[in-house]
Amino acid sequence: MQDLTGKTILLVISGGIAAYKSLELIRLIRKAGGRVRCILTKGGAQFITPLSVAALSEEPVYEDLFSLKDETEMGHIRLSREADLILVAPASANMIAKMAHGMADSLAAATLLATNKPVMIAPAMNQMMWANPATQANIETLATRGITLIGPTSGDMACGETGLGRMAEPEEILGAVMGFFYQSKPLSGLSALVTSGPTYEPLDPVRFIGNRSSGKQGHAIAASLAAQGADVTLVTGPVSLPDPQGVKTVHVETAVEMLDACRQALPADIAICAAAVSDWSAAAVLSQKIKKRGDRQPPDIKLKENPDILAALAGLATPKRPKLVIGFAAETENLIEAAAEKRRNKGCDWIIANQVGPADDGMEKVFGRDENHVYLITDQTTEEWQKTSKQAIADKLADYIARWFTETRQTQPAPMAAE
Ligand code: C5P
Repeated sequence: MQDLTGKTILLVISGGIAAYKSLELIRLIRKAGGRVRCILTKGGAQFITPLSVAALSEEPVYEDLFSLKDETEMGHIRLSREADLILVAPASANMIAKMAHGMADSLAAATLLATNKPVMIAPAMNQMMWANPATQANIETLATRGITLIGPTSGDMACGETGLGRMAEPEEILGAVMGFFYQSKPLSGLSALVTSGPTYEPLDPVRFIGNRSSGKQGHAIAASLAAQGADVTLVTGPVSLPDPQGVKTVHVETAVEMLDACRQALPADIAICAAAVSDWSAAAVLSQKIKKRGDRQPPDIKLKENPDILAALAGLATPKRPKLVIGFAAETENLIEAAAEKRRNKGCDWIIANQVGPADDGMEKVFGRDENHVYLITDQTTEEWQKTSKQAIADKLADYIARWFTETRQTQPAPMAAE
């Protein structure tokens, strides 16, 4: 049965009589195997005590933005980074307004402002406060930012009025949390390995052979696959991009390290080699910095060929070979023909071809840019994808991969009945 084992939920309890229901919510999350850390706002602490929250969660309760103790032990950044999901329940009208306007005047507000994690809110307030256009505008703002709303529901309120504004019941909130973790997505259950960025091949302790790859396309692909539910390992060379959210990222420098990290990430259902791997490395890496040698000739640097990671992955025997292996081809001329040949030579299933070289503005067309214009080449078709953002290309590729897996599963022969 699916449960919350291994999941950490950061529960923000803001001010409202519904805070008493949050105690039951903590109990339910714990019972489902999840870990709950709680931030109790000043308002929340008017309704329930830190002691009951600590006793039920079996964790310290975090209350004060400027508490030396809390900030030393667990700052607002760490609190958010170490959570898989942030749940605000009850979310008061005040808390919702703070979130919508980016305020950071309390530990709860600052944590919500600093987070890069998914956020769910369960509003609880008087029906007139909920219906107020100010609250409705704030809710709309939060929804457009990807924050999920649970409730509110309709019924009798603590203030004696009846209407929409009651906090959803703890069981319903738990159901939404479960749905968040286990909702089936197009690539759920599939694992993917993505390479990205350049490799740096050392010549001596200070110099290396590198290239202009920014890693933007590979990182975007890793993020898109993860967003579609795949379990993604990204093996990246040196880039100045942050690690994508929800992706296991392994940092390497050289082609040999990249191949090694890829091997360790197997088995995988999907392999996408978007890294600009250096074709060569120094035959011998010098332990001291190579010196200028006066009027003598510059040094003769001997190179050796690097392993081809894409060809190595594509050449693995079944069942080790990822079911779908995708490469990239950056070419300056005869793009389609050269890419199609590369697909055959390397033994990969699909190749994404892009033209590199100077653009009309004199700058490079692809490297370091946010946009790309590519062709998808398979054994059957060549399809042009018009110039668009690298993220849009990544999303489209993830959609195509999901479709490929659905179609190939459908066309697989039904298993034979046991004799
Ligand atoms: O041969 P070329 O470098 O043009 O091939 C490009 C494709 O091969 C890309 O998918 C790149 O990630 C992959 N590649 C590799 N290992 C190498 C060279 C290229 O995985 N050593």
